[in-house]
Amino acid sequence: MTDRYAVIGHPVAHSLSPKIHAMFAKQTGQDIAYEKRLAPIDGFVEVVRVFMSEGGCGANVTLPFKLEAFDLADEVSERAFHARAANTLSFLGKRIVADNTDGVGLVRDIENNLGFRLAGKRVLLMGAGGAARGVLLPLLETRPSMLVIANRTVEKAMELAQSNQRQPVAAHTLLSGCGFDDLSGLRFDLVINATSSSISERPPALPDKLFAPDALAYDMMYGKGLTSFLAFAEAKNAGQLADGLGMLVEQAAESFVIWRGVRPDTQPVMLALRKS
Ligand code: ATR
Repeated sequence: MTDRYAVIGHPVAHSLSPKIHAMFAKQTGQDIAYEKRLAPIDGFVEVVRVFMSEGGCGANVTLPFKLEAFDLADEVSERAFHARAANTLSFLGKRIVADNTDGVGLVRDIENNLGFRLAGKRVLLMGAGGAARGVLLPLLETRPSMLVIANRTVEKAMELAQSNQRQPVAAHTLLSGCGFDDLSGLRFDLVINATSSSISERPPALPDKLFAPDALAYDMMYGKGLTSFLAFAEAKNAGQLADGLGMLVEQAAESFVIWRGVRPDTQPVMLALRKS
Protein backbone atom coordinates (compact mmCIF):
# COMPACT_ATOMS: atom_id res chain seq x y z
CA MET A 1 0.00 0.00 0.00
CA THR A 2 1.25 3.49 -0.85
CA ASP A 3 2.27 5.51 2.22
CA ARG A 4 0.86 9.02 2.25
CA TYR A 5 2.50 12.27 3.29
CA ALA A 6 1.54 15.92 2.93
CA VAL A 7 2.79 19.44 3.36
CA ILE A 8 0.42 21.57 5.43
CA GLY A 9 0.57 25.36 5.26
CA HIS A 10 -1.25 28.62 4.56
CA PRO A 11 -0.66 29.39 1.79
CA VAL A 12 0.62 26.12 0.35
CA ALA A 13 -0.13 26.30 -3.38
CA HIS A 14 3.40 27.51 -4.16
CA SER A 15 5.09 24.67 -2.24
CA LEU A 16 7.76 22.71 -4.12
CA SER A 17 7.74 19.91 -1.51
CA PRO A 18 5.44 17.52 -3.47
CA LYS A 19 7.75 17.81 -6.50
CA ILE A 20 10.86 17.28 -4.37
CA HIS A 21 9.49 14.24 -2.52
CA ALA A 22 8.18 12.72 -5.75
CA MET A 23 11.71 12.94 -7.17
CA PHE A 24 13.20 11.45 -3.98
CA ALA A 25 10.67 8.58 -4.08
CA LYS A 26 11.36 7.79 -7.73
CA GLN A 27 15.09 7.86 -7.17
CA THR A 28 15.02 5.57 -4.10
CA GLY A 29 12.16 3.31 -5.25
CA GLN A 30 9.96 4.24 -2.29
CA ASP A 31 6.21 3.81 -2.74
CA ILE A 32 4.85 7.09 -1.38
CA ALA A 33 2.33 9.74 -2.34
CA TYR A 34 2.86 13.35 -1.22
CA GLU A 35 0.23 16.06 -1.45
CA LYS A 36 -0.48 19.65 -0.42
CA ARG A 37 -3.06 20.45 2.24
CA LEU A 38 -4.19 24.01 2.80
CA ALA A 39 -5.16 24.62 6.43
CA PRO A 40 -7.28 27.60 7.47
CA ILE A 41 -5.28 29.94 9.72
CA ASP A 42 -7.21 28.70 12.77
CA GLY A 43 -7.60 25.12 11.54
CA PHE A 44 -4.15 23.51 11.53
CA VAL A 45 -4.81 20.88 14.21
CA GLU A 46 -8.03 19.77 12.53
CA VAL A 47 -6.25 19.29 9.19
CA VAL A 48 -3.56 17.18 10.88
CA ARG A 49 -6.16 15.04 12.65
CA VAL A 50 -8.15 14.49 9.44
CA PHE A 51 -5.01 13.51 7.53
CA MET A 52 -4.06 11.08 10.31
CA SER A 53 -7.54 9.54 10.27
CA GLU A 54 -7.21 9.05 6.50
CA GLY A 55 -4.07 7.02 7.11
CA GLY A 56 -1.41 9.71 6.55
CA CYS A 57 2.05 8.61 7.75
CA GLY A 58 3.60 12.04 8.25
CA ALA A 59 3.59 15.68 7.25
CA ASN A 60 5.83 18.61 6.61
CA VAL A 61 4.63 21.82 8.17
CA THR A 62 5.29 25.22 6.69
CA LEU A 63 4.41 28.79 7.62
CA PRO A 64 2.67 29.83 9.74
CA PHE A 65 2.14 26.56 11.62
CA LYS A 66 5.60 25.45 12.78
CA LEU A 67 4.99 26.53 16.39
CA GLU A 68 1.57 24.87 16.50
CA ALA A 69 3.09 21.69 15.06
CA PHE A 70 5.60 21.69 17.90
CA ASP A 71 2.86 22.23 20.51
CA LEU A 72 0.72 19.46 19.04
CA ALA A 73 3.39 16.76 19.26
CA ASP A 74 3.45 13.99 21.86
CA GLU A 75 7.20 13.68 21.50
CA VAL A 76 9.79 16.12 20.14
CA SER A 77 13.38 15.73 18.96
CA GLU A 78 16.17 17.71 20.59
CA ARG A 79 16.50 19.99 17.57
CA ALA A 80 12.75 20.71 17.54
CA PHE A 81 12.91 21.34 21.29
CA HIS A 82 15.63 23.96 20.86
CA ALA A 83 13.84 25.59 17.93
CA ARG A 84 10.49 25.42 19.75
CA ALA A 85 9.17 24.76 16.24
CA ALA A 86 8.65 21.72 14.03
CA ASN A 87 8.60 21.23 10.27
CA THR A 88 8.39 17.42 10.22
CA LEU A 89 5.71 15.29 11.86
CA SER A 90 5.66 11.50 11.94
CA PHE A 91 2.42 9.73 12.80
CA LEU A 92 3.07 6.57 14.78
CA GLY A 93 -0.34 5.12 15.45
CA LYS A 94 -2.11 7.89 17.36
CA ARG A 95 1.16 9.50 18.48
CA ILE A 96 2.71 12.52 16.80
CA VAL A 97 6.50 12.84 16.82
CA ALA A 98 7.94 16.22 15.82
CA ASP A 99 11.32 17.10 14.42
CA ASN A 100 12.90 20.17 12.86
CA THR A 101 15.08 19.62 9.81
CA ASP A 102 15.47 23.28 8.77
CA GLY A 103 18.76 23.84 10.57
CA VAL A 104 20.44 20.67 9.43
CA GLY A 105 19.18 21.43 5.91
CA LEU A 106 20.83 24.86 6.02
CA VAL A 107 24.13 23.49 7.35
CA ARG A 108 24.22 20.67 4.78
CA ASP A 109 23.59 23.12 1.97
CA ILE A 110 26.31 25.48 3.18
CA GLU A 111 28.92 22.83 3.93
CA ASN A 112 28.25 20.03 1.43
CA ASN A 113 26.72 21.82 -1.55
CA LEU A 114 28.48 25.17 -1.35
CA GLY A 115 31.72 23.77 0.07
CA PHE A 116 31.90 26.39 2.83
CA ARG A 117 33.33 25.07 6.13
CA LEU A 118 31.71 26.78 9.10
CA ALA A 119 34.23 25.82 11.81
CA GLY A 120 36.18 28.86 12.97
CA LYS A 121 34.19 31.30 10.81
CA ARG A 122 32.55 34.59 11.81
CA VAL A 123 28.83 34.27 11.21
CA LEU A 124 26.07 36.90 11.21
CA LEU A 125 22.51 35.60 11.57
CA MET A 126 19.96 38.27 10.65
CA GLY A 127 16.58 37.83 12.34
CA ALA A 128 15.46 36.41 15.66
CA GLY A 129 12.10 34.86 14.79
CA GLY A 130 11.14 31.24 14.19
CA ALA A 131 13.39 30.84 11.15
CA ALA A 132 16.47 32.04 13.04
CA ARG A 133 15.65 29.96 16.12
CA GLY A 134 15.25 26.88 13.92
CA VAL A 135 18.80 27.08 12.58
CA LEU A 136 20.70 28.37 15.61
CA LEU A 137 21.59 25.08 17.29
CA PRO A 138 22.78 23.28 14.13
CA LEU A 139 24.86 26.36 13.28
CA LEU A 140 26.49 26.32 16.73
CA GLU A 141 27.21 22.61 16.34
CA THR A 142 29.57 23.46 13.46
CA ARG A 143 31.70 25.53 15.90
CA PRO A 144 31.94 28.95 14.27
CA SER A 145 34.32 31.24 16.17
CA MET A 146 31.71 33.99 16.42
CA LEU A 147 27.97 34.08 15.88
CA VAL A 148 26.17 37.41 16.06
CA ILE A 149 22.38 37.50 15.96
CA ALA A 150 21.14 40.88 14.70
CA ASN A 151 17.49 41.85 14.74
CA ARG A 152 15.26 44.87 14.16
CA THR A 153 13.81 44.34 17.65
CA VAL A 154 17.12 44.28 19.50
CA GLU A 155 15.79 42.66 22.70
CA LYS A 156 14.73 39.55 20.78
CA ALA A 157 18.25 39.07 19.40
CA MET A 158 19.79 39.56 22.84
CA GLU A 159 17.32 37.19 24.46
CA LEU A 160 17.94 34.49 21.84
CA ALA A 161 21.71 34.81 22.24
CA GLN A 162 21.59 34.87 26.04
CA SER A 163 19.30 31.87 26.30
CA ASN A 164 21.77 29.81 24.25
CA GLN A 165 25.08 31.07 25.61
CA ARG A 166 25.20 28.44 28.32
CA GLN A 167 24.44 25.52 26.01
CA PRO A 168 27.43 23.16 25.90
CA VAL A 169 27.20 23.38 22.12
CA ALA A 170 27.97 27.11 22.28
CA ALA A 171 31.23 26.58 24.21
CA HIS A 172 33.37 27.13 21.10
CA THR A 173 31.56 30.21 19.84
CA LEU A 174 31.40 33.83 20.92
CA LEU A 175 27.60 34.22 20.79
CA SER A 176 25.94 37.63 21.05
CA GLY A 177 22.83 39.55 20.06
CA CYS A 178 22.48 43.14 18.83
CA GLY A 179 20.65 45.51 16.51
CA PHE A 180 21.60 46.21 12.88
CA ASP A 181 23.02 49.59 13.94
CA ASP A 182 25.59 47.85 16.13
CA LEU A 183 27.23 46.00 13.24
CA SER A 184 29.47 48.76 11.94
CA GLY A 185 33.13 47.84 12.12
CA LEU A 186 32.41 44.10 12.16
CA ARG A 187 33.33 41.75 9.28
CA PHE A 188 31.74 38.38 8.64
CA ASP A 189 32.69 35.31 6.61
CA LEU A 190 29.05 34.26 6.37
CA VAL A 191 25.90 36.42 6.54
CA ILE A 192 22.57 34.59 6.68
CA ASN A 193 19.28 36.38 6.11
CA ALA A 194 16.67 34.69 8.31
CA THR A 195 14.35 37.69 8.48
CA SER A 196 10.99 37.46 6.82
CA SER A 197 11.47 40.77 4.99
CA SER A 198 10.08 39.82 1.62
CA ILE A 199 12.03 39.13 -1.53
CA SER A 200 11.36 42.54 -3.00
CA GLU A 201 11.37 44.47 0.28
CA ARG A 202 14.56 46.34 1.15
CA PRO A 203 16.79 44.34 3.47
CA PRO A 204 17.57 45.83 6.89
CA ALA A 205 20.10 48.69 6.64
CA LEU A 206 23.54 47.10 6.89
CA PRO A 207 27.01 48.63 6.99
CA ASP A 208 28.87 48.75 3.66
CA LYS A 209 31.89 46.75 4.79
CA LEU A 210 30.07 43.83 6.32
CA PHE A 211 31.50 41.11 4.10
CA ALA A 212 35.02 39.76 4.57
CA PRO A 213 36.84 38.85 1.33
CA ASP A 214 35.33 35.57 -0.05
CA ALA A 215 32.36 35.89 2.30
CA LEU A 216 29.24 33.87 1.61
CA ALA A 217 25.89 35.71 1.61
CA TYR A 218 23.05 33.26 2.18
CA ASP A 219 19.35 34.12 1.94
CA MET A 220 17.00 31.54 3.40
CA MET A 221 14.42 32.82 0.92
CA TYR A 222 14.43 31.98 -2.75
CA GLY A 223 12.69 33.19 -5.83
CA LYS A 224 13.32 34.16 -9.42
CA GLY A 225 16.52 36.18 -9.63
CA LEU A 226 18.31 37.71 -6.68
CA THR A 227 16.51 38.55 -3.46
CA SER A 228 16.99 42.14 -2.29
CA PHE A 229 19.46 40.94 0.35
CA LEU A 230 21.53 39.06 -2.24
CA ALA A 231 21.45 42.08 -4.56
CA PHE A 232 22.82 44.14 -1.68
CA ALA A 233 25.48 41.50 -0.97
CA GLU A 234 26.52 41.44 -4.61
CA ALA A 235 26.84 45.22 -4.65
CA LYS A 236 29.02 45.05 -1.52
CA ASN A 237 31.35 42.47 -3.06
CA ALA A 238 30.37 39.35 -1.14
CA GLY A 239 32.39 36.49 -2.65
CA GLN A 240 29.56 33.99 -3.05
CA LEU A 241 25.76 34.29 -3.13
CA ALA A 242 23.25 31.57 -2.33
CA ASP A 243 19.48 31.50 -2.00
CA GLY A 244 17.39 29.10 0.11
CA LEU A 245 16.53 26.58 -2.61
CA GLY A 246 19.37 24.29 -1.52
CA MET A 247 18.19 24.48 2.08
CA LEU A 248 14.66 23.61 0.97
CA VAL A 249 15.85 20.47 -0.80
CA GLU A 250 18.18 19.46 2.04
CA GLN A 251 15.54 19.88 4.77
CA ALA A 252 13.20 17.80 2.62
CA ALA A 253 15.87 15.09 2.28
CA GLU A 254 16.28 15.02 6.04
CA SER A 255 12.50 14.58 6.46
CA PHE A 256 12.60 11.80 3.88
CA VAL A 257 15.34 10.05 5.90
CA ILE A 258 13.23 10.32 9.08
CA TRP A 259 10.17 8.85 7.37
CA ARG A 260 11.72 6.30 5.02
CA GLY A 261 15.16 5.50 6.48
CA VAL A 262 16.83 6.12 3.10
CA ARG A 263 18.89 9.17 2.11
CA PRO A 264 18.10 10.51 -1.37
CA ASP A 265 20.69 12.20 -3.58
CA THR A 266 19.86 15.90 -3.46
CA GLN A 267 22.07 17.04 -6.38
CA PRO A 268 19.84 15.91 -9.31
CA VAL A 269 16.78 17.28 -7.54
CA MET A 270 18.42 20.65 -7.04
CA LEU A 271 19.48 20.74 -10.70
CA ALA A 272 15.99 19.85 -11.89
CA LEU A 273 14.43 22.58 -9.74
CA ARG A 274 16.91 25.22 -10.89
CA LYS A 275 16.14 24.30 -14.52
CA SER A 276 12.40 24.63 -14.05
P1 ATR B 1 9.77 33.56 10.84
O1 ATR B 1 9.14 32.33 11.37
O2 ATR B 1 9.75 33.68 9.33
O3 ATR B 1 11.13 33.81 11.40
P2 ATR B 1 8.78 35.51 12.66
O4 ATR B 1 8.95 34.57 13.80
O5 ATR B 1 7.56 36.37 12.60
O6 ATR B 1 8.79 34.75 11.29
O7 ATR B 1 10.09 36.44 12.60
C1 ATR B 1 10.27 37.34 11.56
C2 ATR B 1 11.69 37.90 11.64
O8 ATR B 1 11.94 38.76 10.53
C3 ATR B 1 11.92 38.74 12.86
O9 ATR B 1 13.28 38.65 13.22
C4 ATR B 1 11.56 40.14 12.34
O10 ATR B 1 12.11 41.19 13.09
P3 ATR B 1 11.35 41.72 14.43
O11 ATR B 1 11.61 40.68 15.48
O12 ATR B 1 11.95 43.02 14.72
O13 ATR B 1 9.89 41.79 14.04
C5 ATR B 1 12.20 40.07 10.99
N1 ATR B 1 11.66 41.02 10.01
C6 ATR B 1 10.48 40.95 9.37
N2 ATR B 1 10.34 41.96 8.48
C7 ATR B 1 11.50 42.70 8.58
C8 ATR B 1 11.98 43.86 7.91
N3 ATR B 1 11.27 44.48 6.97
N4 ATR B 1 13.21 44.31 8.27
C9 ATR B 1 13.94 43.71 9.21
N5 ATR B 1 13.54 42.59 9.87
C10 ATR B 1 12.33 42.10 9.54
